[in-house]
Amino acid sequence: MLCFSIFVVLIVTCMVANKSSAVIQLNTNPIIKPRIKSKYEDRFFNLYNFNYSGECSNTFKYKPNNKRDLLIYGAYFSDKRSWIGQRQMTLQTLSLNQNGIPNATKILMLCGEPPEPNFSSLMNSKGVEVIPVKVDSLYNGAVLRYVVIQKYLEENKEKYDRVFIADLRDVFFFEDGFATFSDKQLYLSKECSRTNKGYITCASLDLEITRNWMRDSISKEVADLYAANKTKIINSGTIFGGAELLIYGAMINHC
Ligand SMILES: *[C@@H]1O[C@H](CO)[C@@H](O)[C@H](O)[C@H]1NC(C)=O
Ligand SMILES: *[C@@H]1O[C@H](CO)[C@@H](O)[C@H](O)[C@H]1NC(C)=O
Ligand SMILES: *[C@@H]1O[C@H](CO)[C@@H](O)[C@H](O)[C@H]1NC(C)=O
Ligand SMILES: *[C@@H]1O[C@H](CO)[C@@H](O)[C@H](O)[C@H]1NC(C)=O
Repeated sequence: MLCFSIFVVLIVTCMVANKSSAVIQLNTNPIIKPRIKSKYEDRFFNLYNFNYSGECSNTFKYKPNNKRDLLIYGAYFSDKRSWIGQRQMTLQTLSLNQNGIPNATKILMLCGEPPEPNFSSLMNSKGVEVIPVKVDSLYNGAVLRYVVIQKYLEENKEKYDRVFIADLRDVFFFEDGFATFSDKQLYLSKECSRTNKGYITCASLDLEITRNWMRDSISKEVADLYAANKTKIINSGTIFGGAELLIYGAMINHC
């Protein structure tokens, strides 16, 4: 039921976010600082060549990342073997993010068992604090993240101004992403792709995989209703904005 309402919140917020110019705060004094060139380099990325001067610096309008900014992950490792396959890429991503947003608070909500004995210290070495969560629901892992993160944010909202909910493995901060949005904004993205002919199509809850997640986590009836009206899917791997807006915004302002 909780999850159901979170989906609704997300869907409503998505409609709100479409009118994003109304959400942008106009009286914020932009803080535009010259960017220091990053010296970060790993097997996949070399950030030496990224140039954020001139026009490209305009996107960094807001406060630099600091401890009141939260990057939050939710993970559930149902299969330890899949972690072995993802381990190296995940650690590389976390190193990159540590370089891009060193001062943001980073938390991983760990549902169920850690995928390896030293998982917490491994994450700590990348600046990520692990918070274990007891899993007593039958939610599918992908859906469980919404529930667990929502609960954490509700209980800790006074600690944070801006929040970024991300996928653990494939969301990269090359630079200070937090400096590109304010706590008065909320960004949600649909799951879209472009066809060869250039048409953009966005996935809905009619999609079998997410339909099954909803069916297994909530009920077949609910999953069928959302599939029937083709409610668009919001990508749970990149949701970001002000903490308050993320938790309550859509409800308070628009329902
Ligand atoms: C970076 O971009 C600025 C402005 O576009 C340009 O003047 C400068 O030469 C560039 N720097 C490098 C190292 O390419
Ligand atoms: C992080 O905080 C330190 C200490 O306050 C500061 O010197 C540094 O510039 C900050 N880094 C970023 C990327 O904001
Ligand atoms: C892993 O955990 C064990 C037991 O807590 C500890 O003795 C060991 O030093 C840890 N290894 C690493 C690489 O952190
Ligand atoms: C789609 O169906 C769900 C479940 O009945 C409902 O909550 C939601 O408002 C509907 N969405 C639209 C756009 O009609």
